Amino acid sequence: MRAAQITRLDGPDAVRVAEVEEPSSAEGAEQVVIDVHAAGVAFPDALLTRGLYQYKPELPFTPGAEIAGVVRSAPADAHVAAGDRVLGLTMLSGGMAEVVALPAERVFPLPDAVSFEAGAGILFNDLTVQFALRTRGRLAEGETVLVHGAAGGIGTSALRLAPALGAARTIAVVSTEEKAEIARAAGASDVVLADGFRDAVKEITGGRGVDVVVDPVGGDRFTDSLRSLAVGGRLLVIGFTGGEIPTVKVNRLLLNNVDVVGAGWGAWTFSHPGYLQEQWAELQPLLASGVVPAPQPEVFPLEQAAQAIASLENRNAKGKVVLKLR
Ligand SMILES: NC(=O)c1ccc[n+]([C@@H]2O[C@H](COP(=O)([O-])OP(=O)(O)OC[C@H]3O[C@@H](n4cnc5c(N)ncnc54)[C@H](OP(=O)(O)O)[C@@H]3O)[C@@H](O)[C@H]2O)c1
Repeated sequence: MRAAQITRLDGPDAVRVAEVEEPSSAEGAEQVVIDVHAAGVAFPDALLTRGLYQYKPELPFTPGAEIAGVVRSAPADAHVAAGDRVLGLTMLSGGMAEVVALPAERVFPLPDAVSFEAGAGILFNDLTVQFALRTRGRLAEGETVLVHGAAGGIGTSALRLAPALGAARTIAVVSTEEKAEIARAAGASDVVLADGFRDAVKEITGGRGVDVVVDPVGGDRFTDSLRSLAVGGRLLVIGFTGGEIPTVKVNRLLLNNVDVVGAGWGAWTFSHPGYLQEQWAELQPLLASGVVPAPQPEVFPLEQAAQAIASLENRNAKGKVVLKLR
């Protein structure tokens, strides 16, 4: 089968499409084997190409945390069967391949209304955002959510999900006007530019500030994000695409009664068996009914895996990025 492979740790340029072995028959007997139609691309894939992610597999390896496709075979006791349209989580690597074998608990039925390309952009970001907003961020009905990196994968996911989880208003923070359009299309109530976002947020909220900040960027925006919180507000630490890991002077938390909250979804799922299924039970009807709209991904062919991954590293990605394999 064909698969994207990271062959050297010197960036996305070294990603090649190669012929590799399909999952073995032993794997196929115990796991759900899926013919992959589309695979999601996320920022950790870019980090993996440079050996900068906490998970460091042996070279060469196939990146990709999430897929959408059709079940080829499944164990008799699995909740899916051959022919079913499904989504799947590899969680860390292996998704950018024509065939993937996954444990049944990481396979979910794909709602009929959602295409394979859009589906491949759902699980990794939407489940992270749902975990961050609900479980860690305690998002309450009627609250206002500020979203950094709002035209990216996590960002567009936060804009799509937050209203369904109770937010009355979402304020998107982006670096360019072109990205502002992407954030609006994902449902942002307001869009502000990263440069000077603190003043813009103050004005939009009448000086009150926001209840929750979704922060996949970190870096030098962090202090202004804290200053943008209303009393009782929560800043959700999701990632550091800005490069720098910020530090916090805790007197700010005390003086303003605000929280900085870590939101590491992958680690949480490993320490909370059954949590993925609970998450899907909430998300699936929202997606199937259209209350949460499907992602509108930018789609690259598998042959352009290197360019697709590079677009995240180069900050050019337009919304969620997905590879088409079939
Ligand atoms: N905590 C978790 O469980 C979890 C789960 C999934 C992903 N993550 C993390 O979440 C972060 C976002 O992932 P993603 O897939 O959403 O990435 P993405 O699609 O590339 O979006 C990231 C956004 O960050 C902004 N950004 C600011 N400075 C940047 C820079 N120097 N380089 C690149 N982008 C920059 C960009 O928006 P502007 O240009 O508009 O500023 C971009 O749209 C990553 O750090 C990822 O590892 C965490």
